[in-house]
Amino acid sequence: MKKIFCTIAAAVLLIPGARADEGMWLLPLLQEINADAMKDLGCRLTPDQIYSINHSSLKDAVVVFGGGCTGELISNQGLLVTNHHCGYSSIQGLSTDEHNYLEDGYWAMSREQELPVEGLSVTFLKSMTDVTDILDAARREALEQYADSANVSKLAEKAVEAAADRLKKTAEQENPHATVTVRSFYNNNVYYLIVNKVYRDVRFVGAPPASIGKFGGETDNWMWPRHTGDFSMFRVYAGKDNEPARYSKDNVPYVPARSLTISLKGINEGDFAMILGYPGRTQRFQTEAQLQQMMDLHDISIAARTIRQDIMWKHMESDPSVRLKYASKYAGSSNGRKKWIGQKKAFKDLRVLERERQKEADFYQWVLKNKERKEKYGTALQEIADGVAANRDGEKAVQLFGETVFNIELLDVAGAFAGAFRQALTAVPGDSAEALQDAYQACLAFYDDYYEPLDREVSAALLKHYRDQARPENALDLGGNFATMDLDAFVNKLFDESRFTSPEKLKAALPEGFARLRQDPVVKLYNTVYETLMKLSAETSAGDEKIAKGSKSFAAGLMEWKKKEPSYPDANSTMRLTYGTVKSYSPQDALTYRYYSTIYGVIEKEDPDNYEFRVPKKLKELYVARDYGPYAMADGNLPVCFLTNNDITGGNSGSPVLNADGHLIGLAFDGNWESMSGDVIFEPELQRCICVDIRYVLFLMDKFGGAGYLLKEMNIVK
Ligand code: ARG
Repeated sequence: MKKIFCTIAAAVLLIPGARADEGMWLLPLLQEINADAMKDLGCRLTPDQIYSINHSSLKDAVVVFGGGCTGELISNQGLLVTNHHCGYSSIQGLSTDEHNYLEDGYWAMSREQELPVEGLSVTFLKSMTDVTDILDAARREALEQYADSANVSKLAEKAVEAAADRLKKTAEQENPHATVTVRSFYNNNVYYLIVNKVYRDVRFVGAPPASIGKFGGETDNWMWPRHTGDFSMFRVYAGKDNEPARYSKDNVPYVPARSLTISLKGINEGDFAMILGYPGRTQRFQTEAQLQQMMDLHDISIAARTIRQDIMWKHMESDPSVRLKYASKYAGSSNGRKKWIGQKKAFKDLRVLERERQKEADFYQWVLKNKERKEKYGTALQEIADGVAANRDGEKAVQLFGETVFNIELLDVAGAFAGAFRQALTAVPGDSAEALQDAYQACLAFYDDYYEPLDREVSAALLKHYRDQARPENALDLGGNFATMDLDAFVNKLFDESRFTSPEKLKAALPEGFARLRQDPVVKLYNTVYETLMKLSAETSAGDEKIAKGSKSFAAGLMEWKKKEPSYPDANSTMRLTYGTVKSYSPQDALTYRYYSTIYGVIEKEDPDNYEFRVPKKLKELYVARDYGPYAMADGNLPVCFLTNNDITGGNSGSPVLNADGHLIGLAFDGNWESMSGDVIFEPELQRCICVDIRYVLFLMDKFGGAGYLLKEMNIVK
């Protein structure tokens, strides 16, 4: 009896504060919205210690890694850790058949052995400031000033843009070396000015072999129980003044305003856990109409990717060199495909569309209760539905096109060559021989990751799939009757005759001159493909204005409707905090999944005949000897992964998982199969974040990788 009373009392007390688990919270609002709830859960840090613009705070240790991941600094000498799957394409790019770091792993044993990664950057957040009032004022003024103009809404948007530009200019002057953006939240209802610093000299320090960093491969991806050592390490370099600088061997390790302390204390069910990172996209403010369209687009992608991936994998399985070339392309395609399959299943199992429909019905009832609301929000849902309907067929056509015809890789090199040629010619007008050489050089990187027989087979299969699926009016003009022509013959002729299929052929063709190269069959196909794409794309925007207007008003309405509940905007690749606890879950009746996995599971899953489940000999030796050093749990076993109920999505990969003191206990790297619809509706009972235990990371670096010297620059507490 007493217990029941306590639970109810606790629940009541919690109502005004933000709930745990669900929520990708905005950092500047933590004090206002989340401080109490975090404290109740056991957090010992104040919001100011997590995010401050006046002194160093945890956020200074967290970066955008590359295009779409998160990383964190773990030493005051620029050492950074992120997921293996985030470092994947960089590691692939540095690898060759002879030095295959992806396959075999790598550890730099000195600074000299740290390998620069061309094109890789990390982005630090300096500050984010709500500028909604300023931009709203600019809009209001313009609306008044141009009230009589037919173009009044366009002019108002122009005025908002101009005000945003002024804010950006001022911030740039105040923050030398910084990049400044204005980003919108809550479907354009709220705006923040974001000041970042981008560092572009980032070097690869080390990673485990794929058999550890990607253990379980696509089979285990998006699933628990998990046994993946999903981490890699890099180092950020800066100019002598610690500011961003282009790569130079004279650059020095960057000294961050903050680096994370690492905890070996271990974790228990119910422990406070929080994650700072860069979630990419969620759809928590989308309507049933939008979600239904999303499901339809998934169907198109899943079907095309199944065809493409099966061919890719066949070639990859039979040739290690091809496997290396296509590692990243395959992982990217497959990760999306499996996510969408899981999302569709979860939509069904968890009745996501039905629940969304009910929410919208309830919302509409609330809207109807009052005249002012009806005016503001009464048409929002219908507008979105109309806009989605107007774009529906066009979007499907573009999706099909993008997943099929657009994946003919040979088109990329033809496009890149023409672009590079024109650019070179603008630099040195008239010297077309030189420009051709430059264009050729610019294309060489393409061939590093290219295998012609694979592309040939994929191209024929995808063209046929496009023909099967596309509406007749979207036929491709391939110089014959698209409906009946022999596509195998077309593709074979294309690949046989083109000069773009290998660097040797291309080089030999340079003396023919650009005019002749433009007659290449691939260039012709490229032009056809672009024309068709332009035509199809034109049909995807008729509903945009309605969707934008409806979405803005729907989000504003939802916020007003739920104004007593703390809210957070959809993910948009800006830094967020999610907090909750370490937590097990029940995937189905009578079954409980423990909140952590250990090296036993690695050994259990081992299958020497399955590429995804090989276990390196050295790891088995360490296992047999139970030689885990200081990284073992109290019972002597070695932890591998663990679960929290934090709210994350793609983009959070690599994010630091922090305990109540803000110390690093792991890296977030995945979500779980039972709640793949989590981007749309968070599922408190089911949704978990899958993390790699920092003790497994250090064990792999130190005991397995022999790079224990790196521990010296880390701050580790036991
Ligand atoms: N599912 C993970 C995510 O999107 C990525 C995992 C990459 N691993 C893989 N086997 N493809 O965050």
